[in-house]
Amino acid sequence: MLRSKISGIGMYVPKNVFTNNDLVKYMDTSDEWIQERTGIKERRYADRTGETTTTMGVEAAKIAIERAGTTAQDIDFIVFATICPDYYFPGCGVLLQRAMQMKEIGALDVRNQCSGFLYALSVADQFIKTGMYKNILVVASEKHSFGLDFSTRGRNISVIFGDGAGAVVLQPTENVNSGILSTHLHSDGNNAEILAMYNPGTHANHWLNGKELADFENAEIGDMFMSHAMIDKAQNFPTMDGQAVFKVAVEKFPAVIKESLEANNLQTSDLRLLIPHQANLRISQFVQRKMELRDDQVYNNIQKYGNTTAASIPIALCEAWEMGKVKEGDLVCLAAFGSGFTWASALLRW
Ligand code: UT7
Repeated sequence: MLRSKISGIGMYVPKNVFTNNDLVKYMDTSDEWIQERTGIKERRYADRTGETTTTMGVEAAKIAIERAGTTAQDIDFIVFATICPDYYFPGCGVLLQRAMQMKEIGALDVRNQCSGFLYALSVADQFIKTGMYKNILVVASEKHSFGLDFSTRGRNISVIFGDGAGAVVLQPTENVNSGILSTHLHSDGNNAEILAMYNPGTHANHWLNGKELADFENAEIGDMFMSHAMIDKAQNFPTMDGQAVFKVAVEKFPAVIKESLEANNLQTSDLRLLIPHQANLRISQFVQRKMELRDDQVYNNIQKYGNTTAASIPIALCEAWEMGKVKEGDLVCLAAFGSGFTWASALLRW
């Protein structure tokens, strides 16, 4: 029986540090409010024109590939997760394939928001286990800073996001005590609109029941996808009912972690490290208390990078590994929850 194993991991964060006080210059907020509600002290923002979601992904991928002891030409499949694609289409997968001069391999784009990396990892895991591919590159990268409302209107969401990328190379192993033990993926679309970016899109208000959005009544052919009215009403920015998301997050995180442990007849005491998606430090702390985990069993770095959506788990995993917090044989649980709603976990033996 084949298992897939992370044989190389890399991360990239842009060099521009944006502190909470830097945000005060743009909107009515404060360092105190942001730290108290989210734990975030600072985040990184990509160079506005010199870096894209794809170029950051490439930087993380180069490190992961080198650490896996392989080359870009040996990669036989790409899975790229992001909600900040360079283009609406084509996706970042092919842009990375081009930038890294890879062979004409498959490049799959995954859009599952905060759970994106775990969905991507799960897909890659299946391809490895069936023997279809031997060197899969899984990348998660986000350039949020290019698409946020930096006025006070957008402050509840804009202060939490940061830019960055993480990548792993998955390879097969015949050691059944090593690698990805299981993945669990979930969704519930009933609350799709409470954490979303509505435009550009083709919904024409269909799902939005009375929400004050751009007027589609008199739309002409060609008007529908992006209009001046949408921009005037700031509908090209993400929107979130933070409290409603928070309530479901603190329920689903523990559930999906428990599900992964139970599926493998393991317990929280067996866990060396839990790496939760870095949505909000308060959510991670709530999950830690609920799961009765010690401080050294949970790794958080949202304080430095903010919420980097799909990229947050591979960035945190890479950093924890570089710090020696994850060693061969350690049991590691990765868990995510976010827009969709989607939530997921992966349990792995390093
Ligand atoms: O990664 C994807 C998944 N996302 C999440 O898991 C996010 C979950 N939600 C959260 O993390 C929190 O809800 C937030 C951090 C986003 C917001 O914290 P909150 O405690 O839920 O704040 P709130 O939205 O209920 O707003 C409370 C007050 C409001 O003022 P009033 O109406 O009480 O006067 C907001 O206008 O705080 C105000 N506020 C701010 N004040 C200063 C909202 N954002 C800010 C801000 N600075 N940045």
